[in-house]
Amino acid sequence: MSALLEVQGLVKHFVAGRSVFGWPTAHVKAVDGVSFTVEAGRTLALVGESGCGKSTVSRLVLRLIEPDAGIVRFEGRDLGTLNANELRAFRRDAQIIFQDPYASLNPRMTVSQILTEPLALHGLVPPARRRERVDELLRLVGLEPRFARRYPHEFSGGQRQRIAIARALAVEPKLIICDEPVSALDVSIRSQILNLLRDLQDRLKLAYIFVSHDLAVVKHIADRVAVMNLGTIVETADAEQLFAAPRHPYSRALLSAIPVPKPRAKRSRIVLEGELPSALNPPSGCRFHTRCPYTIARCRSEEPQLLADGAGHATACHRTAELPLPDSIVPTDGGFSPALEKLVAAFGSVAEGARSAGVDTVKPMPEAGA
Ligand SMILES: Nc1ncnc2c1ncn2[C@@H]1O[C@H](COP(=O)(O)OP(=O)(O)OP(=O)(O)O)[C@@H](O)[C@H]1O
Ligand code: SF4
Ligand SMILES: [Mg+2]
Repeated sequence: MSALLEVQGLVKHFVAGRSVFGWPTAHVKAVDGVSFTVEAGRTLALVGESGCGKSTVSRLVLRLIEPDAGIVRFEGRDLGTLNANELRAFRRDAQIIFQDPYASLNPRMTVSQILTEPLALHGLVPPARRRERVDELLRLVGLEPRFARRYPHEFSGGQRQRIAIARALAVEPKLIICDEPVSALDVSIRSQILNLLRDLQDRLKLAYIFVSHDLAVVKHIADRVAVMNLGTIVETADAEQLFAAPRHPYSRALLSAIPVPKPRAKRSRIVLEGELPSALNPPSGCRFHTRCPYTIARCRSEEPQLLADGAGHATACHRTAELPLPDSIVPTDGGFSPALEKLVAAFGSVAEGARSAGVDTVKPMPEAGA
């Protein structure tokens, strides 16, 4: 069976400076040859530091911006060949939710209007049934239908993200891109939104591209992970494999920054030396060579290709085979620390998270019109 989404050799360079005559003089290599696949009903996490190109990949996948090169196929069809009607149908199949739901929700519209708009736009539900559908959507994301008459500012951050998720679900998509969906939320609310996303995935067979710079969050939601550095993917593998045994020095450094699950588990923090290079002028050869502790002469001149090992684990590093084995972040002698067990349990209570409607009602809300 082919993948739901296939991305091949995606490239996007932005003009970052022009001469007095208007000619481009500098380009940001935001995305520079990115390839990956997403299976139906599964989650691919795109991780990497700020500015590595995660959001640009998202916008390219949704065709919100045009690529300079590369192909995006959705259900086997090249998005670059779709006519206006087909592109409209694709916009129904693929949705996005953002880090800041407040900025993405129209403050002058009630929740009911926000959720009705996509239903009307795509002619999905007859007008007489739309109120009922809005109620269903609110219940689906753990909010009470009586909230439909309220405005976005009357909700807490977690509730606003639930509304944004409901709006994405209104058109019954197959793929949702979640661009840092929990980064702006309190830690206590994060696990509730992650649980909700996982529960919805199970129930509605949704695929996610989960964009994040936070590997601790990614660990609890991803089936596969693609690690990005300066516009390229440096490692991709099943989440379990990547977290247990990251191979690329950059992935190892990123992973070393998340908390060790158990006090006895040995793992040393890898502190990257040097400035984060700019996508405006990425280093020659391997783009990580100015910060990599294993750099050799070849790394400065030759760009490593992303090579798969035959078991679905691909790495772009000249020295993959000869690097020392990484410390495992998963304890082998069973069990986590009590604090981490609590956290894991919170992430694990998937059904509970979605069932408890209004769980993140952190600030009391007056009745509308009160
Ligand atoms: N429209 C644009 N014009 C010029 N440069 C852009 C544009 N959009 C993005 N960039 C640049 O492209 C690079 C990648 O940006 P992008 O927003 O995709 O990164 P990101 O990984 O999502 O970062 P963050 O984690 O901070 O959201 C950055 O250097 C950014 O400044
Ligand atoms: S190719 Fe060289 S510089 Fe790049 S990650 Fe591998 S060892 Fe480090
Ligand atoms: Mg971004």
